[in-house]
This record gives sequence, structure tokens and C-alpha cells, in this order.
Amino acid sequence: MSLKDKTVIVIGGSSGFGMATALTAVELGAKVTVTGRDAAKLEQAVSDFATAGHSVAGHVLDAADVDSIAAFFEGVETFDHLVSMAGGFMGGGFLEADFKTIRRAVDEKLFANLQIARHAARKIAEGGSMTFTAGSGGRPHNASGAIIGNDAIRTLVQGLAVELAPKARANAVAPTWTETPLWRDMPASDVEATRKQFSQSIPLGRTAEIEEVSSAYIFLMQCGFITGQTIVVDGGLTLVS
Ligand SMILES: NC(=O)c1ccc[n+]([C@@H]2O[C@H](COP(=O)([O-])OP(=O)(O)OC[C@H]3O[C@@H](n4cnc5c(N)ncnc54)[C@H](OP(=O)(O)O)[C@@H]3O)[C@@H](O)[C@H]2O)c1
Repeated sequence: MSLKDKTVIVIGGSSGFGMATALTAVELGAKVTVTGRDAAKLEQAVSDFATAGHSVAGHVLDAADVDSIAAFFEGVETFDHLVSMAGGFMGGGFLEADFKTIRRAVDEKLFANLQIARHAARKIAEGGSMTFTAGSGGRPHNASGAIIGNDAIRTLVQGLAVELAPKARANAVAPTWTETPLWRDMPASDVEATRKQFSQSIPLGRTAEIEEVSSAYIFLMQCGFITGQTIVVDGGLTLVS
């Protein structure tokens, strides 16, 4: 299934996995819209695409705000494929972490993407797809709310797959720790230490390149017979931890 002339929306396309997915989609001939929360960062991303010779539309959207999601989809006539990067990260278990932090992690992952799915379902074209982002490799005792959110995404896409069929599909990608701008506030030495630690645990002996993760979203947009699945992109980490 070619992406040529297909309309692709990347929620969270101003950096990281989303920006890499948007770049490949536009290179494959798709008409791409990227969203982000930070207007200045989004503007810079759209300008970077233009410098690379690609016309990509930008739209500010905060997935934590249902009015923002509703306003965005109000302006969308129809679309073929949606990719959502909405979600963050957190550290700490159920007893140690702050209650608000745990709740926010679940809200940012499950409820934000649920709202996106509900609004997007009204505008998705025949043969379209939605691909959400879960995660892998973390454990409940050190990433409590994030793990609940990631598990919930797996459940969400199973339900959506049946509810959207036969018109459209729903899947998820579950990356493990990857060096992206998500870790921008972490000291560089801590990022490097984390990368080394994961490289030692991952059977393939290294962490992923951003493009290795984004290629999974492209595959799920293009393969018209996969639905309700979560593809784990973790170099085999889940098999040994
Ligand atoms: N990198 C990892 O190690 C890793 C591992 C497992 C799972 N993940 C998941 O992968 C996804 C993408 O992460 P990334 O590493 O590519 O991070 P990133 O480089 O920070 O990119 C995240 C993108 O999503 C946008 N975004 C974040 N929260 C949003 C929200 N509530 N509403 C709308 N847009 C939002 C960001 O825009 P702004 O910057 O403007 O907010 C940005 O465009 C996240 O769901 C994360 O949980 C990442």
C-alpha cells in the first residue's frame, strides 16, 4: 500500500520518532501534517522540513486538552493515516512516586490517545489506519504509571481494531529506551550512562536508531492486513528481562 498522495497526520511530529516518521512519509509522497505542543519548536520543525525541500503543514495541539484535540479534528476533512506520539515518561513505583505524577503518566498515555482516537475515528478514510505509541522494557516498580499507560495502549488498539473494522485499522509501536529529544532535560552524562546500561541488557548489544523505530510506524501504515497489534521494537530486551 503506497503512501503516495495519502494524507498522514503525525501527532507529536516536531521531534524524535514522530519527526522521523513524518520525514519518511513525505519522502514516500504523502501529504503530511505534524503537530506539537510548543509552537516555536513546531515552527522550527516545519522550517527544517522546508529546508530539506518538503512542504509539511504544522498545527499546535496539546493532547492533554480535549478542546485542542476537538478543534484540530474539526478542521480536518478526512485523513488516511494517523500516528500518535502522545505520552511521556516517569520514574518511580506505586508507593514512592508522587500520586499526581502517576496519574499524569496514565492521562498522557491512555486518556489523551483515547480522545485522539475518538475524534479521529469520525474523519478516517476507508483503508486508513491509526498507530499509537506504547513502550517496552520498563517495570512497574520503577515506571508505575507509564507501564499502566503502555499496557493500556495495547488494550486500546485491540478494541479499536474491531470497532474500526472493516473500514480502518489500529496498531501500536512499543519502543524501548532510545536516545531522542525526550531526554533533553537529562544531563548528557546520565543519557550516556543510560544508553550504556541498555546496550548491555539488549541482546542486539546496542540501543535503536530513531529511524529503526520510525520504520515500524511506516510499515504499519503500509501493511493493510495488520490490525490490533503492538510491534515491540526493542532489540530483544523483552525476551531477557
Ligand atoms: N525515547 C524513548 O526512550 C521512548 C521509549 C519508549 C516509549 N517512548 C514514547 O515514544 C513517544 C515519542 O517519544 P520521543 O522519544 O520521540 O520524544 P520527543 O522527541 O520528545 O517527541 C515527542 C513529540 O510529541 C509531542 N508531544 C508530547 N506530548 C504531547 C502531548 N501531550 N500533546 C501533543 N503532542 C505531544 C512533542 O511536542 P512538544 O515537544 O512540543 O511537546 C514532540 O513533537 C512518547 O509517547 C514516548 O513515551 C519513547
